[in-house]
Amino acid sequence: MPVVSSTQDHLRSSPPTPPAVLAAEIQTKGHGRQGRPWISSQPLGLWVSVLLEVNPEQLRILSLVGALATADAIRVLTDLEPSLKWPNDLLLQDRKVAGLLVETIARNHQPPLALLGLGLNLHQQLSEFPDDLKKTAISLRQASGRLIPRSQALAAFLKCLDHRLHQNQEDVLAGWRAGFPHMGRTLTIRVGEETLSGIAEKVDNAGHLHLRLAHGEIRILTSGETNFPA
Ligand code: BTN
Repeated sequence: MPVVSSTQDHLRSSPPTPPAVLAAEIQTKGHGRQGRPWISSQPLGLWVSVLLEVNPEQLRILSLVGALATADAIRVLTDLEPSLKWPNDLLLQDRKVAGLLVETIARNHQPPLALLGLGLNLHQQLSEFPDDLKKTAISLRQASGRLIPRSQALAAFLKCLDHRLHQNQEDVLAGWRAGFPHMGRTLTIRVGEETLSGIAEKVDNAGHLHLRLAHGEIRILTSGETNFPA
């Protein structure tokens, strides 16, 4: 597995024919959502991007598909049950074990290609997370006591992703709703400069979260930063 700046950027710079997979041992410039850095400068996780040709309906829910596939893989690898944090994080013991990132590559006269990126923490011990992540991040090693080889995690993820990509939208959304423990609970969500607090009412068929604010207004969110009260 190579060293690259970012598997997303590498596939974007000269896209092979989809489907294609690129997993890195180390990324020197891994990034997450909203342009944040994704710490992956050590070979302690699964840092992988998958280039896919998907239709617009699949593209809308691709991050949910990726999150479900990752949850399936974690279950197969560890017997642990991760919870889903809308829109595309996975938690174990209320800490982030994985995050997904969906980006697109525009094409002339054709729908865009999709880049699905997964960062899954595998081997980190507490001392190997940066200080600001020590309380909020976790690895499969910490959660399960097992050192799962990266190749095994990759194979499990790709198998589960293939299965989930073949599911219809209703089944994906049903699976996602079943794994989302925060429905009906109060969430605080940062959306850009705004912080919203409200009850999670539903995840609709487009994968958007409906949040009922204190005065009754429903805000439909397409992405955001969620902070759940304990
Ligand atoms: C997030 O939680 O914000 C998403 C993190 C996605 C990280 C992965 S690691 C493989 C791929 N390459 C990147 O630069 N980012 C994604």
